[in-house]
Amino acid sequence: MTERMPRRRGRTRSPWTLQRRLVLTVVGLLAVVSITIGIVSVVILRASLVDRLDLQLASAADRSGAALGGVGDNDGDRLGDLPGNPYFGTPTADSILSGPAQPPGLLALVYDGTSITTGYTDDESGQIEALTSEQVQILADHVNQSTPVTVHLGGELGEYRVQAETSRTGTLYLVGLPLSGVAATAAQLALIVGLVSLVGLVIVAIIAAWVVRLALRPLQRVTATATRVAQLPLDRGEVSLDDRVPAGDTDPRTEVGRVGAALNRMLDHVDLALEARQASERKVRQFVADASHELRTPLASIRGYSELTRRSGQELPPDAMHALGRIESESVRMTGLVEDLLLLARLDEGRELELEPVDLTMLLVDAVSDAHAAGPDHGWNVELPEEPIEATGDEPRLRQVIANLLANARIHTDAGSSVVIVLTAIGDQAVITVTDNGPGIPDALKNTLFERFARGDSSRFRGTGSTGLGLAIVAAVVAAHHGEVSVESAPGRTQFRVALPLVAA
Ligand SMILES: Nc1ncnc2c1ncn2[C@@H]1O[C@H](COP(=O)(O)OP(=O)(O)O)[C@@H](O)[C@H]1O
Ligand SMILES: [Mg+2]
Repeated sequence: MTERMPRRRGRTRSPWTLQRRLVLTVVGLLAVVSITIGIVSVVILRASLVDRLDLQLASAADRSGAALGGVGDNDGDRLGDLPGNPYFGTPTADSILSGPAQPPGLLALVYDGTSITTGYTDDESGQIEALTSEQVQILADHVNQSTPVTVHLGGELGEYRVQAETSRTGTLYLVGLPLSGVAATAAQLALIVGLVSLVGLVIVAIIAAWVVRLALRPLQRVTATATRVAQLPLDRGEVSLDDRVPAGDTDPRTEVGRVGAALNRMLDHVDLALEARQASERKVRQFVADASHELRTPLASIRGYSELTRRSGQELPPDAMHALGRIESESVRMTGLVEDLLLLARLDEGRELELEPVDLTMLLVDAVSDAHAAGPDHGWNVELPEEPIEATGDEPRLRQVIANLLANARIHTDAGSSVVIVLTAIGDQAVITVTDNGPGIPDALKNTLFERFARGDSSRFRGTGSTGLGLAIVAAVVAAHHGEVSVESAPGRTQFRVALPLVAA
């Protein structure tokens, strides 16, 4: 799964959460819309302000024409020629700039056929100031411009709208008005739009995050349910799968509700399947327990009658004697098998053991002396501590655990092998180890050693009552005692280790 994912260079980036993605998308879209609206409004505002400025420029041009003489004066005489007229004499830029009702910041250039005069009214002081020669040059390039145009004059003046005209007296003149006001207004609008958008974006981001989190909260509850269920040990034993997504989060009209409802349906299915599995397991266990129980009585009869016949003192042919001996020994073996099955079925049911303090020292002494009797060819060594060790447990069961381990050490090793049994207390556990110097556990068996009917090949041929249930019983009994069993095995040394809880001091 992970291998199929495309690898990014370096460390893989953590994926974006749905919440993050939704919030960023909303904020991003809003930002694009705000920027577009801002740019369009600034452009439109600027265009309309420039239009208005052009109108002012036109009327300033008209007034300037009048100031230069001839315009707006249709009585034939030339007002400008009269002595005492302020504009009397050669027309200059000053005649325009000092004319009546001229707007502040007006700029003028007059060409009377021989020389150029220029000037502009300073916005703040109202004084007429001179232009630099570069500025004059720039303006001179536009003296044929009969419609308003933007020129960049540089320095303090910046951008101007300029327009050239010819007065009635034939004087070529050019007037201009500063664009600084327009620029300032446009900049102000841009700033206001920007600030309002920014505040709007922050508010929208907060609200969007809140709304998305609110909307995704049911999903978290669905996830929590799924997580809780995933932690249940569904593979074994009796598990009740009661956990469900709360009813409020299963409304099929919402997306999350559909997920919740689907999860609940799945849990219902799994629950039914689990119940079916548990029921069938229960049935099998019950069957094994019942069958073993029912087999005990007829087995006891078979054994009893064959023993009775053999000991009756009647003369029987040797074949019949032998057959009776076989019947007896096989019925003993089968009784053991049936007892083992019954015990395992009962342990599977999880029936409570009768826990009480058990003196392990005594138990081991008994078990080793039994083993000695059964296998006089083996060397049996037992190492017990001075103090008696008591574990909490079910005595007959623990007896069986030790008997099984000692039987294995006897059956699965050659005659003459030595077995060492050691009892110690480590921490709050009583530890019993059974070590032999036999051939070791076959490799093929190591993984399934404690499973039912797991036995080595050689055991079949020996016919020594090998069933493969001994270690399964050991594992089940120790587990029922909340203890641990483990094994280490190599040719020449096999050690089983059983740890049981000590009686609390
Ligand atoms: N001490 C041991 N040394 C060698 N092999 C062993 C020893 N204990 C158990 N085994 C192997 O583990 C198998 C399973 O043991 P167990 O469950 O007691 O079944 P069983 O003794 O009836 O065969 C045995 O058949 C044997 O092959
Ligand atoms: Mg055994």
